[in-house]
Amino acid sequence: MASVVKINVLTVPAEQREVLEKRFASRAGSVESADGFEWFELLRPLEGTDDYLVYTRWRSEADFEAWMAGSMRGAHGQAAGSGQGGPGQGGEGGEGGEKPKPAATGSTVWSFEVVQSAAPKA
Ligand code: HEM
Repeated sequence: MASVVKINVLTVPAEQREVLEKRFASRAGSVESADGFEWFELLRPLEGTDDYLVYTRWRSEADFEAWMAGSMRGAHGQAAGSGQGGPGQGGEGGEGGEKPKPAATGSTVWSFEVVQSAAPKA
């Protein structure tokens, strides 16, 4: 069965880049123990786009869906499903506990199936 790649494409205004990277730096780290999880990378744009890519790879679509329905919400501090009001809870509660402003102004998910892959020769 081919692995699936799920990429969350985050539109991040230039002045919010540092905030986003700081939030990922204090991320929950629970995805590492999710069933069927294979790989995660946060990709910072250098050329050709201003969007950050949150790259995740999974053993199957079902494993990804199970994570989205389960520990993904805890890992995002609140229901990521609420559009832009989604995650970004990196322990930066504002005065009086109000939720921190999301760093991303937009997000969309790209889905791929791994057709071919290669690793460095041992
Ligand atoms: C509303 C859409 C979303 C936004 C704005 C967003 C933003 C964020 C932010 C800021 C973090 C850092 C931790 C935190 O502050 O909570 C995070 C964690 C993460 N996000 Fe998202 N996210 C969204 C949806 C998704 C989706 C659909 C995926 C899957 C492709 C994804 C994959 C991840 C992963 C793997 C982590 C690390 C979780 C962990 O450490 O356990 N996110 N996200």
